[in-house]
Amino acid sequence: MKKLIANLLLPAAAVIASPAALFVSAVFVSPAILFVSPAAMASEAGVRLDAAPIDPTDVVSLQSGARTFANYCLNCHSASLMRWNRLMELGLNESQIKDNLIFDGSKVGDLMNVSMTRKDARKWFGVPPPDLSVIARARGADWLYSYLRGFYRDPARPTGWNNTVFENVGMPNPMWQLQGERVRVEHAVKGGEAKEGHGGAAGSVKYEMVRPGSLTPVQYDETVRDLVNFLVYMGEPAATSRKQIGILVLLFLLAVLPLVYLLKREFWKDVH
Ligand code: HEC
Repeated sequence: MKKLIANLLLPAAAVIASPAALFVSAVFVSPAILFVSPAAMASEAGVRLDAAPIDPTDVVSLQSGARTFANYCLNCHSASLMRWNRLMELGLNESQIKDNLIFDGSKVGDLMNVSMTRKDARKWFGVPPPDLSVIARARGADWLYSYLRGFYRDPARPTGWNNTVFENVGMPNPMWQLQGERVRVEHAVKGGEAKEGHGGAAGSVKYEMVRPGSLTPVQYDETVRDLVNFLVYMGEPAATSRKQIGILVLLFLLAVLPLVYLLKREFWKDVH
């Protein structure tokens, strides 16, 4: 009899134990994994990244990011894990997608591919532009936010552009008409040499706007924020609903916990 009861209770115990294990790993392990990589990358490159103020539940921001992405990035980059009609999740309907976002005659059911061939890309830029479907997972939102705001004019580069986050990048500033043109200015540090190491050199370098773009710096930051928000969404379109379902599941398990406990008491009541 005892064995039978134990057999009955074991699954219940597993049900209770597994959310606990899930919870522990969710709380302690995954943020550690999430935060270590971009931070490690940042220190490696020696640049300070700006935190991307993104909100994956903000649908208006995601729509605006999708528009910027289709207008300014898809000429060179593909997003071949993403289908156009997936954007319907962001509240766009088929004709909006077709009329406002697709410029190369693709159908709404097609993948977000690029018409440029890899061979041409290599010829023009030296490196083919990578697929951006999961770029936010590879680089992190803060890196992207800093990178897309980090372009400056550099006549020594074949494209005429350089970047504070990605030195000697092969990509020209795609949104320069919006951002404007900045140049790097090195100021002599008073009292002789710039301090070596920790942020020493950074203090003496400034980026000055020599030709303003069509957006103010604040508006440009917002445009990039929306774009990065979209890039993060694209890396895992189901992330928001996955998290909501996860919370529901945990709440459900929490709700059955007292019932399972009562059941256990009922089962063990006659066993002394
Ligand atoms: C004119 C073509 C062109 C356009 C337009 C363009 N890119 Fe690029 N992009 C490139 C090339 C070429 C590279 C590779 C640079 C390198 O590795 O030196 C690149 C690299 C990148 C990288 C770095 C990838 C990595 O991790 O190495 C990111 C991120 C990126 N692009 C995002 C964007 C976004 C977002 C847009 C739209 C706002 C955009 N690009 C528009 C050509 C382009």
